[in-house]
Amino acid sequence: MANRSFINVKLATMTGTGLGVVTNQAMTTDDKKITWIGPESEMPPGNYIEIDGKGNWVLPGFIDCHTHLVYAGNRADEFEARLEGKSYKQIAEEGGGILSTVKATREASESKLSISASIRLILMRRDSGVSTIDIKSGYGLDFENEAKILRAAADVGEEEGVRVRRGYLAAHTCPPEFKSNPDAYIDQIINEDLPRIVEEGLVDYVDAFCENVGFTPEQTRRLFLAAKHLGMPIRLHADQLSDLGGAGLVAEMGGLSADHVEYTSPASVARMREHGTVAVLLPTAFYYLQETQKPPIAEFRRQGVPMAVATDHNPGTSPFTSLRLAMNMACVLFGLTPTEALRGVTINAAKAMGLQKEIGTLEVGKAADFTLWDVEHPRDIVLELAEMGQHRTFIGEKENSP
Ligand code: NIG
Ligand code: FE
Repeated sequence: MANRSFINVKLATMTGTGLGVVTNQAMTTDDKKITWIGPESEMPPGNYIEIDGKGNWVLPGFIDCHTHLVYAGNRADEFEARLEGKSYKQIAEEGGGILSTVKATREASESKLSISASIRLILMRRDSGVSTIDIKSGYGLDFENEAKILRAAADVGEEEGVRVRRGYLAAHTCPPEFKSNPDAYIDQIINEDLPRIVEEGLVDYVDAFCENVGFTPEQTRRLFLAAKHLGMPIRLHADQLSDLGGAGLVAEMGGLSADHVEYTSPASVARMREHGTVAVLLPTAFYYLQETQKPPIAEFRRQGVPMAVATDHNPGTSPFTSLRLAMNMACVLFGLTPTEALRGVTINAAKAMGLQKEIGTLEVGKAADFTLWDVEHPRDIVLELAEMGQHRTFIGEKENSP
């Protein structure tokens, strides 16, 4: 058991409503949890490995609460096609888009998938000290291939010492085998694949893509009823390209988060507030798709809906590994304040993953996941996009620094 003490640090605890700034404090941890926070002179006696923070800031470990990290292939051809004026929807309707990644991912071995995903996770850690990451399936679309992705996702977490939570996103798009019959595909998921995935312990929650190029609200509702029946939490890709009422739907069904939410209506925002559903903003996907409809930030604020920020890392709409870039874009493109962006990758990201009791703030009893940042003020983390090698990330007993 390694007990550590961190002295000479400034803390941004992310408790309350702002950054939760506490200066002139020290913090102790055991190999799993934060055990004490207070003035150094009052530190409980113990056998600590002492770490001198040299006046640096400590923030909770950053959480990337929405990624599709495990896949094969690349979509450079679509990038060019879109620059020439084709839309994401047109490309999807012609059989490209998600389905082109499905083809490459089905052909890839599990070890090839985990190696490529590990490289991406290393970049994420180095850039932003990411200590928890969400990884969704959705590029396999049949039992074996979805299971392969989910196993690779767990491997990557083990390998890199990062906490991983996995989402089952079989309802990402209709696979070729079910081409003209998405209802039959949803039946297959509900009756066969989902129960097996849950039974084998491969997944933490169920996700879907409710969209004109994905699944209808009715199909989504059927899937979510089955997920809830099995005790699985739900999250949803909602209102990204059009308003089908997805954010309202997932909120009404008690979902953890509605993600993308560019086209979300005020009525759906009200449902989110009622049910405590988090709005997960994905500004790098908004940017990469040259979307012009911004999420209703003022409405989220007015109604008190918590906002998270994530990379949405995937090969088609967000080929980026920098959570700090996502935070920066959330500020520049959507008008978040740096404090909101920082809360978006800590406490609110924890809520979006249902992990707010374990991570997301610096509080006694929470996981000892945090990063020491050599910056003058936490906002510098959001504004300064040059490589920030000057951070040290601790996840439980391990130091996981670049
Ligand atoms: O979150 N919106 C749907 N799913 C992904 C994109 C998937 C893809 O194009 O490969 C997203 O943006
Ligand atoms: Fe996504």
